[in-house]
Parts: sequence; structure tokens; C-alpha cells
Amino acid sequence: MSPILEVNDDNIKKAAAQLASGGLVAFPTETVYGLGADATNGAAVAKIFEAKGRPVFNPVIVHVNEKEDADAIVEFNPAAALLASVYWPGPLTLILPRRHDTKVSLLTSAGLPTQAVRVPAHPVARQLIKALGRPIAAPSANASGSLSPTTPQHVLNSLGERAGIILAGGKSAVGLESTVLDMTGDVPVMLRPGGVTKEEIEMTLDRGIRVELEAVNDAPKSPGQLLKHYAPVTPLRLKAVDIIMGEALLAFGSTRFMGIRGGGSANDLPYGALLNLSESGDLNAAAANLFSMLHLLDAGGYKGIAVMDIPETGLGIAINDRLRRAAGAQQAG
Ligand code: TXA
Ligand code: MG
Repeated sequence: MSPILEVNDDNIKKAAAQLASGGLVAFPTETVYGLGADATNGAAVAKIFEAKGRPVFNPVIVHVNEKEDADAIVEFNPAAALLASVYWPGPLTLILPRRHDTKVSLLTSAGLPTQAVRVPAHPVARQLIKALGRPIAAPSANASGSLSPTTPQHVLNSLGERAGIILAGGKSAVGLESTVLDMTGDVPVMLRPGGVTKEEIEMTLDRGIRVELEAVNDAPKSPGQLLKHYAPVTPLRLKAVDIIMGEALLAFGSTRFMGIRGGGSANDLPYGALLNLSESGDLNAAAANLFSMLHLLDAGGYKGIAVMDIPETGLGIAINDRLRRAAGAQQAG
């Protein structure tokens, strides 16, 4: 059976129910088709990265229906609020500081203190967000390294069954991804050109903006060079088979055989110094927990964080990629 569903009330309900239960839905927006998950469900967001094939945790855009819904996720400044009032709903993504109390999963921002948000203009995207009653995290609905899809058939060709349900909303009108604008600094920075032009933004803001086309999209030339990555301050020790005194432990699977050098076991660690990405060894759960647990341990004032070995398969590839970058960033100073 084809996963492509025509758009009607029943199918919108069906798609919203799939999202609510932690599944994926590919849906049309005015720019390109998105591969959506409930943005407040980390395990659901993790499935997006798995489905895209070469799993890498890049931050994804969170889609909402009203500026007021974005207010609950990020902190607006006056310039960003002005842009939202002019270009939303529409093909403009704003990067703003995350609110500390947001329910949106930290995996959507790959652990960064900033969050990308946008209000799509496509009626089907809007109906789906409304039916779910929560924000939808969605990158473009294509496998890593291939072109962004503008028809349901493109999504099917690229992702097949991995897309879950594909809501068929016709051809995307803009056909080009949204403009990504970083509004967190003194000067707005365009990170990706798109449906709204530099000139339009400068006209609206009545000032010049910078353009720093980052290594965006799915096949960056030098991955991670331009896009900022979250890295903890506390040194990470990967593939740890024991714990050094003063270290915290980021565990994966059973900690039965994890001892503390000089005596004791993982169970003897002080309260809060042991966090387990997934006791049952579930990579999806581990992905959902990765950034929030790193943040917690990083804030604990430990001498180091020992990280247990994580298998290099499925989402383990993305988890290890992030852990290695985090450890490497520290070595580089
Ligand atoms: O038109 C679009 O924007 C489509 C539709 C589905 O909304 N979505 C899309 O998402 O193209 P994606 O994930 O393929 O591209 C989002 C871009 C990526 O290049 C990502 O690196 C960047 O936005 N981005 C997201 N959050 C960011 C952040 N906090 N800081 C810097 N860049 C960010
Ligand atoms: Mg993309």
C-alpha cells in the first residue's frame, strides 16, 4: 500500500494521530515537503534523523501556526517580531534564543541555545499543526544528500516507507527552502537564501544584514565547520570502560560492570553523577536524551564525563558523531 494519502479531514486526523503517537508524517509546506515529528517528543524527533539515512544531528526547524505559539518557544527581539509580522505565514525561518521553559525537545536544536522557528503558509501544514495541537519539527523530507522534495512522489522516491504517512498536498508553490535568518546577534545574519530575499529583509528592517552562507543542507562541504555545534565545557572521555574518581558517568545500557578506579562501582557515584542514555540500550531513546543529559552533567562541576561505548549503527552513528565532535572541540582548545 502506498503511504501517500490524499488530503481530507479523516487523513489529517490520521496523520495527527500518527504524530501524537511518536511517528513521522511527511507533509506539504509552501517551500518544500517536510518530514515531521512532534517537536516536544525527543524520541519522535530522533526518528527523523534515522529516516534521512545518513544520521547526523543537525538542528531542525520547528513549525507553528501563530507568532504567539513561537513566543512560547523562543525569545523575540523587536526586529525579529517585525519580520514575523511581515513575513509569517511564509518562507522565513528565524533563529532566536530558546526559552528555558520550552517543551520543545533539545534535540531539535542539537543542543544549541538557539532554535529555528517558522510559520508555514501551506493550508495542509497549518491544519496538521492545528490537529496535533503542538509544534512540528521538520527538515526537508529527503534522504541525506538528495534534493529537497516538492511533490509527494519526490518524498516517496527519496524516503520510501521511512517517511511514514505522506500527505499529498500538491506541488510546493515556492519550490525552494525557506530563508534562514539568525536573529540572535547584533546584526541579522542570513545563513541560507530562500523564499524571502536579502533585499526584502533589509527593506523591512531598514538596515543592512550580513550573509554567511553556512554549510547547510544535507551534504555540507565541510560538515560542522560553519554551523555552530554544542560542546560541553567538561572534558569527555569516550568509550570509557571504568570511571576515574571525580568523573560523572554518561551510561548506555547496563552499568553492572562499570567500576570506579581505586574501588567502588557506578552505583557508588554521588546523586546526579550517573545518567543513563538508555538502560535497555535503545539508540532511539539515547538520541532523545543525549543533549539534555550532556547539559545536566556539564553543569555538575565534574572533573570529566566518562561516556560508555555506543554501537556505531543506526542512530548510534549520529550520537557518536556528536560525542566525537564534542570531545574534539575540547582538545582543539
Ligand atoms: O523550507 C524549509 O525551511 C523546509 C520546510 C520543511 O519548512 N525545511 C527545511 O529544513 O529546509 P532543513 O532542516 O532541511 O533546513 C534547516 C536549516 C538547516 O540548514 C539547519 O542547519 C539550519 O536551518 N538551522 C536550524 N536550526 C538552526 C540553529 N539553531 N542555528 C543555525 N542553523 C540552524
Ligand atoms: Mg534539507
